[in-house]
Amino acid sequence: MDKKFKRTLVTTALPYANGPVHIGHLAGVYVPADIYTRYLRLKGEEVIMIGGSDEHGVPITIKAKAEGITPQDVVDRYHTIIKDSFEEFGISFDVYSRTTSQIHKETASEFFKILHEKGEFIEKESEQYYDEQANQFLADRYITGTCPHCKNEKAYGDQCEACGTSLNATDLINPKSAITGNVPVLRKTTHWYLPLDKHEQFLREWILDGHKEWKSNVYGQCKSWLDMGLQPRAVSRDLDWGVPVPVEGGEGKVLYVWFDAPIGYISNTKELLPDSWEKWWKDEDTRLLHFIGKDNIVFHCIVFPAMLKADGSYILPENVPANEFLNLEGDKISTSRNWAVWLHEYLKEFPDKQDVLRYVLTANAPETKDNDFTWKDFQARNNNELVAILGNFVNRAMVLTQKYFDGKVPACNELTQYDKDTIADFENVKAQVEHYLDQFRFRDALKEAMNLARIGNKYLADTEPWKVAKTDMNRVSTILNLSLQIVANLGIAFEPFLPFAAAKIRGFVNLDHSNWDELGNINLLEAGKELSKPELLFEKIEDSEIEAQIKKLEDTKKANELKEYQPAAVKEDTSFDDFMKMDIRVGTVLECSKVPKADKLLQFKIDDGMGGRTIVSGIAKYYKPEDLVGKQVCFIANFPPRKLKGIESQGMILSAEDADGRLVVISPSDLVKAGCSVG
Ligand code: 2FM
Ligand code: ZN
Repeated sequence: MDKKFKRTLVTTALPYANGPVHIGHLAGVYVPADIYTRYLRLKGEEVIMIGGSDEHGVPITIKAKAEGITPQDVVDRYHTIIKDSFEEFGISFDVYSRTTSQIHKETASEFFKILHEKGEFIEKESEQYYDEQANQFLADRYITGTCPHCKNEKAYGDQCEACGTSLNATDLINPKSAITGNVPVLRKTTHWYLPLDKHEQFLREWILDGHKEWKSNVYGQCKSWLDMGLQPRAVSRDLDWGVPVPVEGGEGKVLYVWFDAPIGYISNTKELLPDSWEKWWKDEDTRLLHFIGKDNIVFHCIVFPAMLKADGSYILPENVPANEFLNLEGDKISTSRNWAVWLHEYLKEFPDKQDVLRYVLTANAPETKDNDFTWKDFQARNNNELVAILGNFVNRAMVLTQKYFDGKVPACNELTQYDKDTIADFENVKAQVEHYLDQFRFRDALKEAMNLARIGNKYLADTEPWKVAKTDMNRVSTILNLSLQIVANLGIAFEPFLPFAAAKIRGFVNLDHSNWDELGNINLLEAGKELSKPELLFEKIEDSEIEAQIKKLEDTKKANELKEYQPAAVKEDTSFDDFMKMDIRVGTVLECSKVPKADKLLQFKIDDGMGGRTIVSGIAKYYKPEDLVGKQVCFIANFPPRKLKGIESQGMILSAEDADGRLVVISPSDLVKAGCSVG
């Protein structure tokens, strides 16, 4: 049977501070964690939500080097951007700190020392690549070379991004240091390892027998790791950015970022509650929950629990409701390819629409499988659900009350059977939402909350108070009383999901509290209570706004293609004499039209300075004929004429082929006399 806990500690994966955060982060971790935490708070439970930036690790040092700044500069910049984005989206952390804080360095250092003293590590010597010019060991990411599997010449020492294979730096063919370009040499180095194999039996029992209720994606991943057999994992690195290894022999070495980052949850709790943090981490009555994305499962379900267990004084996570990934318009979100909707940009482009994104990301959350975010779906969900159902109902109830009862809650008179059925329906919603929230099924929970608005909408549509008003104001009074009670309920039900809209709704009906227990209560508003002036909760999103976003992504795609573009290999040598045989000239386009029944062809009349000529060219896909009239183009003047679709073409117009296959005509950069030659 489920254990009753006294309090809940919610942790959220600490995002790397080497870039801003995007919709994938929000959908996978922070919105679900925030919904859950807000829900518990509304129920009056003791809960805290911990967040922070993960500021160590090699990618941060690479970024710093590339920009000629320090790693601290990099993390200072992104920590601020990330923290602000979360705040603006209403992610209600009790603390959002960072792993470069003093308290974190001390906590992580102490944690390592305790495990070291307890003999929980093994020390091992291994050979690692060293750059003799830069005088440093090279992290795997700092080594590039040829992938032994697919022969990609730009593979990294930890992974080949072309074929996705995980690599060891020593697997690379022709390894090179990314710092100096030199060939690195192998040198001996010593590191501390956490012997995960020693904890394997415990982990098997704890997870596979003890936590069968975990989400199947999480349980399944753990099972496959455990079935493969666990190996000792190095918890230190030869690097100068991170928490220094605090024991003898640790000079020049730091804790591995995945060792220090989860300890960040503990440090940040300490920062928030210096006097009572232990009760959150060491008392069996605390329920620890880790909200993460699927790439973090092994660290949170296997490595971190093994670290906590090795210490012996900590509780272990009760659940790890990890999500799958969110894709964007059919492609994997990628920071390096700029394929993302960045939160700080969204906030500028869609001001005051935080809840719209929260809604769409929850309705479409990648809970059980990877999901796709598309701008069209974003627009449809806003226009057809938030505006047409939730916003519409609230607005109608408010406006009708304004019209018929001067903006005061009217009395509830006699209830009809239909009223009673409606009440029964909406009282049911609370149990349904709870049922799903308790299982971390946020999409279904949101759907149920939305049903409350649907019930309201249907109630107004069916009872038609605007018609009844002609004959029976007593009845209208009841209908609007009930409708307003539903509005007030929405102000509670949506608080976890759409906190900004929910606060507005409560403001409309002057409900000064939101208490989960009151959900389903049809007497939240007393008759005679004054309402505020209604305003629109959500507004329609126009096609033009969506098209602009899609265009932005298309531009990104194009820019990426150009970046990845490999020009064709240089052709065989030719001679100057051969080149001089070509008669290339500049002509001015006098007329241009589409060739009938030929999709690709345009027919040109060119002023060639010699009486004019006709040329047919296959560029119709890329130009409108009228845009070319008056333009100067380069053409080959001494090709023998040939017939294309019955038209004699007297030459060839020169064009460049762009990375995406688009043809762009070659023109002189300044106006020249028609007919002059090019060479
Ligand atoms: O994957 C990531 O973005 C990591 N920075 C998550 C760390 S979670 C925790 F351990 F801090
Ligand atoms: Zn490869």
